[in-house]
Amino acid sequence: MAGTRTNSTRESLLVTLDRECGEPLHRQLAAAVRDGVRSGRLRRGTTLPPTRRLAGELGVSRGVVVEAYQQLVAEGYLTSRTGGYTEVAAAPAAQPAPSARPAPPAPAVDFGYGRYDVANFPRAAWLRSIRRAYAQAPNERFGYLTGRGVPELHEALADYLNRVRGTAAFPDTIVVSNGYAQGIALLAQVLAARGVRRIAVEDPSADDDLRPVARALGLDVVGVPVDDDGIRTDVLAGVDAGALVLTPTHQWPTGAMLSAPRRAEVLRWAGERGALVIEDDYDAEYRYDRLPVGAMQGLAPDLVAYSGTASKTLAPGLRLGWLVLPRPWVDDVATTKLLADRGSPVLDQLAFADFLAYGEFDRHLRRMRPVYRQRRDVLLAALAARLPELEPAGISAGLHLVAWLPDGVDEAALVAAAARQGVRVNGVTPYRLSPAARGGLIFGYSALNERAVADGVARLATAFARLRRS
Ligand SMILES: Cc1ncc(COP(=O)(O)O)c(C=O)c1O
Repeated sequence: MAGTRTNSTRESLLVTLDRECGEPLHRQLAAAVRDGVRSGRLRRGTTLPPTRRLAGELGVSRGVVVEAYQQLVAEGYLTSRTGGYTEVAAAPAAQPAPSARPAPPAPAVDFGYGRYDVANFPRAAWLRSIRRAYAQAPNERFGYLTGRGVPELHEALADYLNRVRGTAAFPDTIVVSNGYAQGIALLAQVLAARGVRRIAVEDPSADDDLRPVARALGLDVVGVPVDDDGIRTDVLAGVDAGALVLTPTHQWPTGAMLSAPRRAEVLRWAGERGALVIEDDYDAEYRYDRLPVGAMQGLAPDLVAYSGTASKTLAPGLRLGWLVLPRPWVDDVATTKLLADRGSPVLDQLAFADFLAYGEFDRHLRRMRPVYRQRRDVLLAALAARLPELEPAGISAGLHLVAWLPDGVDEAALVAAAARQGVRVNGVTPYRLSPAARGGLIFGYSALNERAVADGVARLATAFARLRRS
């Protein structure tokens, strides 16, 4: 696109000349432009203002500007183009790197969980939704919003969530956020403002959203262990906390599903102490070989704040998420959202509302489920063939699985050995709040094609064999 680039410096150039200092004006001007090029402020290809206009702006004779430009052309900083334009010709001087530490090489195969399959973003359908959104939105949608977002999206989300996730959502109980990360941060702020001092989370669980926010707010975070049926409600019973964050449909990272009796116990625990259950329904759309499980929010809309995100279904870069809140929480969360950023960008909300209403979201998910299922199947087959010692779990849903390690295999050592073979894979242990439990690896598979999955497992098997021999 270099040929079509336009830029602002062609119109004007901010230079201050000092008429008192005795330095000739053309030299001052040349020095200012030279500094701009060296520092990178004036990038290669930037067109400078015509001499007559710049002379007029600076209140100097045109000869001053012509002389400065000629000097810099001679030095190689500028070049004269046909049409009478003068353009920056040089790049900034290379700066020594602040640290001599070399960047680690990119892994050949990346099972990193945060890598989502953005290549399958439904661009054409999304563009159609954007066009319709632009064309049809009433003028007032382009003004300031309430903290809850646009009504079109509230309606579309309530319909979708009630139909597909079994929620009890009403348009006026939904707050749109910039993904789950912001939704949980807003809730943590409101919880802290209401006097809550402790939040319970699953152990293990994600460490990069609630935990740092809670720490910054001065809230205690307490971990409650998870087993094959989800969070251990026998342990939870002894925990005094004002909120509990859960991934009941597909526990992150173990993949466990919270059993029906435990769902009831969690809700009883919350009801007895007036605690809020925050349901993170981050990858509920992907079910492969088990029946869909409804959201807990549908069982107890007064106790559960439901959180959904487009990060696993469309693209994390959209930063689109939503909260379905018990009514007494709606205004405080919406006010906190307004204070944070005056509301999420309107256009993406309108486009997503349209995308839902036209059935494009359902269509996209119908298209993607078999793709991810196939990648998961290839991963499971490769693990069974090359690494039968590992025990996969949480496989029937989502975009990742965990493979538990046999006793005696050091998780951190295996992660490091895998990296030496060109494979990035995360261990479970860094996500634990309590130490010393079974080691495991988290395999994100959504962004890897089948060949990469097989290659990654083969490399990992080499790392595993070497580690065992050492
Ligand atoms: C457990 C969990 N919840 C939610 C999310 C989605 O976060 P966001 O909507 O901020 O992208 C992720 C993303 O990886 C996650 O791991």
